[in-house]
Amino acid sequence: GRFRGEIEFRNVWFAYEGEDWVLKDVSFKVEPGETVALVGATGAGKTSIINLICRFYDVNRGQILVDGVDIRDMRQSDLRRQIGVVQQDVFLFSGDIKYNIRLNDTEIDDEKIREVARYTNAHRFIETKPNKYDEEVTERGGTLSAGQRQLLAFARALAFDPAILILDEATSAVDTETESLIQDALEKITRGRTTIIIAHRLSTVQHADKIIVLHKGRIRECGTHEELLEKRGLYYKLYLL
Ligand code: GTP
Ligand code: MG
Repeated sequence: GRFRGEIEFRNVWFAYEGEDWVLKDVSFKVEPGETVALVGATGAGKTSIINLICRFYDVNRGQILVDGVDIRDMRQSDLRRQIGVVQQDVFLFSGDIKYNIRLNDTEIDDEKIREVARYTNAHRFIETKPNKYDEEVTERGGTLSAGQRQLLAFARALAFDPAILILDEATSAVDTETESLIQDALEKITRGRTTIIIAHRLSTVQHADKIIVLHKGRIRECGTHEELLEKRGLYYKLYLL
């Protein structure tokens, strides 16, 4: 069945092979349907948290639970279906746009591809391409801008209607029109799903139910935008100074 989408980190310690701790005693809980923003300086450990949720790596100590079950006891195929991921550097395959949304999944037909593309605003730019959904792209993106690649990745992530959405927001500059398409898509696609988003834009962070501030692998602060501003701690410094 579908996940409820509760995520819990319990005293998680993590290091890449043979190196120093990247995450130190990290504990937090995300309730089903909540949007949590991860913020912090470069190297703070944000992407590493995502790498662990997706099981690209396993924790050294502690536990990660989804709906109360240790993810090491879950089937990889369930995790892949129920957790949609959009990475910072969107990875494309050489092939057409349709292929880049459904990949090898034949369950996803043309109708479904169009539906998710409309929903994520990707349809708008796809329609401007000479070959529309049959437009060929390359691994480097070809004729697609960074923002368009991000919208395409949203569509790919939503094709399975995942209960959990993990987003590493693109840092590259996008034009203002695409920026507003992305912002609009974000509001729609996070609705009704548990979302963990590594946010670089204040507009995204402010919309989160909860903000986790990482500093050198530890959680330094946690709260809403208003609570953290009032605290005048690291978040305040990161976003307002
Ligand atoms: P930004 O994306 O730059 O904002 O940083 P981040 O907060 O996402 O940090 P990340 O989790 O990527 O990195 C935390 C630490 O782990 C840093 O010291 C990185 O150099 C290191 N690190 C990240 N990825 C890898 C990896 O694949 N292998 C190794 N050995 N170290 C890594
Ligand atoms: Mg990162």
